Amino acid sequence: MNYTFRDFYHNEVQLSFEHQPFSKTPKHVWVICKYKKQWLLTKHGSRGLEFPGGKVEEGETAQEAAIREVMEETGGVVKDLHYIAQYFVSGKSGTIIKNVYFAHIDSLVEQDTYYETDGPKLLNHIPTNVKKSHRYSFMMKDDVLSHCLQFVVEKYCQ
Ligand code: GTP
Repeated sequence: MNYTFRDFYHNEVQLSFEHQPFSKTPKHVWVICKYKKQWLLTKHGSRGLEFPGGKVEEGETAQEAAIREVMEETGGVVKDLHYIAQYFVSGKSGTIIKNVYFAHIDSLVEQDTYYETDGPKLLNHIPTNVKKSHRYSFMMKDDVLSHCLQFVVEKYCQ
């Protein structure tokens, strides 16, 4: 399954549910997290509510980065991590390739710092008006979220 659409900033996004079609060594990760029956997000200081994620560091695999970013931004301990999709954003200042994962979270461990975020935010539902809400990050405002959530719910949350 492959999709092409525009993001919040009108950059072109290609989303694929194949295994890492754009890069075997992506530099970014994004993790859709479920803790018990709730979605686990973080509140980024400037961008707003979003699922945790970030850059893959030197010497780290994308999976390791996903587990680390979830802990740093939410205190969540990843129980299991599943690759979902990869997307490619063509921006004015370059391109971004990001792996999307789904994680079940075992527990939340309070952290001294949540880096650029306010830490864990638990939601019963992802609202349908995310695209119009100022509370949510631009990352939650394109079709990556809807396609990946649909995949996750069908495969892991029935
Ligand atoms: P820092 O380097 O951490 O300060 O972040 P940055 O925003 O300058 O750089 P990054 O490489 O994370 O992102 C650069 C640009 O790529 C952003 O400003 C967005 O336009 C785009 N981008 C990054 N992540 C995403 C994403 O998940 N979705 C979409 N649609 N665009 C993204």
